[in-house]
Amino acid sequence: MEAVELANAVVSAARSISGVKYLEDAGKELGAQLRQMLGVETKIGVFVRRPEAVPSLVHAEGLETDELFNLQLLALMEGTALDVFSRKELLTNGVQEEALLNRGLKAVAGIPLFSRQELEGAIVLISPRQEHELREMSPFITAIAAPFLGELVNFRLYSQLEDLYLSTILALASAIDAKHPYTRGHSERVTRYAVAIGREMGLDKDSLSDLRISALLHDVGKIGVKDVVLDKNGRLTDEEYLEIRQHPVIGAQIVGKISNSEKIVPGILDHHERYDGKGYPSGKRGEEISLFGRIIAVADTFDAMTSTRSYRKALPFQVAVEEIVYNAGYQFDPKVVKYFVQAYEKQKNIWQRENIIHSVY
Ligand SMILES: [Fe+2]
Repeated sequence: MEAVELANAVVSAARSISGVKYLEDAGKELGAQLRQMLGVETKIGVFVRRPEAVPSLVHAEGLETDELFNLQLLALMEGTALDVFSRKELLTNGVQEEALLNRGLKAVAGIPLFSRQELEGAIVLISPRQEHELREMSPFITAIAAPFLGELVNFRLYSQLEDLYLSTILALASAIDAKHPYTRGHSERVTRYAVAIGREMGLDKDSLSDLRISALLHDVGKIGVKDVVLDKNGRLTDEEYLEIRQHPVIGAQIVGKISNSEKIVPGILDHHERYDGKGYPSGKRGEEISLFGRIIAVADTFDAMTSTRSYRKALPFQVAVEEIVYNAGYQFDPKVVKYFVQAYEKQKNIWQRENIIHSVY
């Protein structure tokens, strides 16, 4: 069965993602070393090459508590990394952005990291120093980055696998969503909300990685539900209703056939259970419902409310949040709701913007 093969790749991804943590740690280490050398005011982005020569940020050093400022910093870092990857040479520039100038940042440098003629990564510096100073320092920075580059090349194969698996997960999740125009991007948004809740709860990296996969695949069982039932606008017959209520079970069966999926399955199986026991498929209540199931339930409902469906328009974010809070203790675990609200308060601007970008059809 094709779905089982895809799901197999998904579970392997969970393992390889945890393996790549080391590269992030190496990036963090390099960031700290460079900051020591260049001064605490310097902002540092460490990028590595992904397939199709796209740079990807593995670590950013020197971010502040101001979210909007950080977004501008990251945008400049990413833009500079893209330029380094297309021109394959050292780039320096004066800072143009007013918000950055106001904080004393004067120059930006993009330093390519080569290994045997191949561009493997880039370091981006945004610094209170002058452009020419950064240019003069660049050979030293390249030297400091040499051990990181060594690690990076060692992990290259691993990281390629990770990308392959990650894109498989995404392909599978979006294939489910894409079958139905009104759910486009649904799994990815649910995953964003679920992981944000998990972070607020203080889950460790491995658990967040499992939660991520569980959320991405929460509706995978819809593969086994007839399209006419999924797409139906009017009232469902009892039989159709029963069929749709099977999708968590089908999803759990698909993903459960694979070894080491024990931590991923419960979130899929339980995402339509309710805290008060009135949910489906089994009517579990309270903490009988897996933690991932309780988290994904909130994330899933929030996205359903804030997306336009065939039968109604999207609710404003604030109204949807109030609705979730109103249902704490009934539909949802009140603890999860508390962390959801905390995550929402921190990320609402980003969530809202992403929701608008991705729900245009
Ligand atoms: Fe579902």
